[in-house]
Amino acid sequence: MAKIVPVPQFDYVVFGATGDLTMRKLLPSLYHRFRDRQFDDRCRIVAAARTEISDDGYRARAEEGLRQFVKADFDAATVQDFLRLVVYNRVDGAGEEGWPELMERLNERPDVVRPYYLATSPDLYGPICRNIEAHGGLTPKSRVVLEKPIGRDLASARAINDAVGAVVPEAQLFRIDHYLGKETVQNLMALRFANTIFERLWNADMIDHVQITVAETVGVEGRGGYYDRSGAMRDMLQNHILQLLCLLAMESPVSLDADAVRDEKLKVLRALRPLVPSEFAGTIVRGQYTAGAVNGQPVAGYLADLGDGASTTETFIAMKAYVNTWRWANVPFYLRTGKRLPQKVSEIVIQFRSPPFTIFPGEAGNLEPNRLLIRLQPEEGMRLEMMTKEPGPGGLHLRPTGLDISFEKAFNSRYPDAYERLLMDVVRGNATLFMRRDEVEAAWNWVEPLLESWEDKPETPRPYAAGSWGPTAAIALIERDGRTWYE
Ligand code: BG6
Repeated sequence: MAKIVPVPQFDYVVFGATGDLTMRKLLPSLYHRFRDRQFDDRCRIVAAARTEISDDGYRARAEEGLRQFVKADFDAATVQDFLRLVVYNRVDGAGEEGWPELMERLNERPDVVRPYYLATSPDLYGPICRNIEAHGGLTPKSRVVLEKPIGRDLASARAINDAVGAVVPEAQLFRIDHYLGKETVQNLMALRFANTIFERLWNADMIDHVQITVAETVGVEGRGGYYDRSGAMRDMLQNHILQLLCLLAMESPVSLDADAVRDEKLKVLRALRPLVPSEFAGTIVRGQYTAGAVNGQPVAGYLADLGDGASTTETFIAMKAYVNTWRWANVPFYLRTGKRLPQKVSEIVIQFRSPPFTIFPGEAGNLEPNRLLIRLQPEEGMRLEMMTKEPGPGGLHLRPTGLDISFEKAFNSRYPDAYERLLMDVVRGNATLFMRRDEVEAAWNWVEPLLESWEDKPETPRPYAAGSWGPTAAIALIERDGRTWYE
């Protein structure tokens, strides 16, 4: 485990403190960082929400949340120490109530780092920022953290960015895409820019195609209200998957400075081949799950999960994208993500070109192309598949064998949740793993023609049984090109 470097003292203000994200991710991540002594009892977590509840009442809820979500790492004594840092303020983010009291509390310590984490609905981002500013809460050491989704299309993203940007300078804004905090995602940068062997191969001359799959077994899990307005494109592809694509496809940044990295990612987003309506039919597949079984358990279909009879929201999307640069000319990037698929797995496959011809006799077997697999979750690791001779005297038989790196085994340590790293980066003021305004807007800009066409001509997505790999059309999408999804 890398050495833990303590962060400066802070007051972490969390809006939306009674919500699911705070209980499931934010408090557990802060607890882990406290347990590992990355910060101590000179720091405070200032929970804010509209519910009327005392400090102790909130601590009891937080304790319950921690019990549920930190599981084996729940240590009663450490949890009590941690909860002593937590205070609660009743605040109406968009209204007037509670702001003077919140500010009085924060002004006890004007010089500590003061992140405001907005774990609320995005339409509150502007009003909360205005309130922070109007009540004198924006100190030089303040930072404002925005959760995705930033908008639901280009216009709404711009409106949110304008509202927030009118009061908070861009340098103090931290837009979270939690995929960037995943260890293996950061390892993509190490793979590409801390090693020499792949760089010469990392281009259209050597790479046949790339696949990015983010598959989930869960359905909408009580988030139907939000999800039905988003769908797989807005919830996963426009942000998480495009960020992965950027890290894979970008040129080497001149340094690890936030802007240097973000400049390179932005160039990739701007180089994405524009989506043209006449090509949608052959390059994009939307699906929606119906009843089926996942891991042997029967599960309901999407419409039943919503408790509502009709919806044209997609819970699955597969598509083909291109990056119009010399490095990536005509290399397809096949992207897919969906809910209620057979496994929870996030994986990148870089498939190299096939050997130009074979010197081996037919009985030696087919020559499979080399593949580099990067597994983000579960069992984080990498595998380079190469053709090898099967051992033994029975003739020359070839088969692919993997050179494997399991990160967990190699480092023998717990894999921190992505939020742990990102929450501490906010305190340190390091924005490298956060999205800049122009990146978010470039990503929306690319998907805009697709969103508009769905809006203009709402079509029912193709059905797929829960527990399958999506609609058969998604398989046809890649097989038409003579390729297959890696499974
Ligand atoms: C979130 C989406 O951003 O990412 C969820 O809103 C999704 O719908 C989640 O389930 C997946 O994250 P992870 O880290 O579990 O792959």
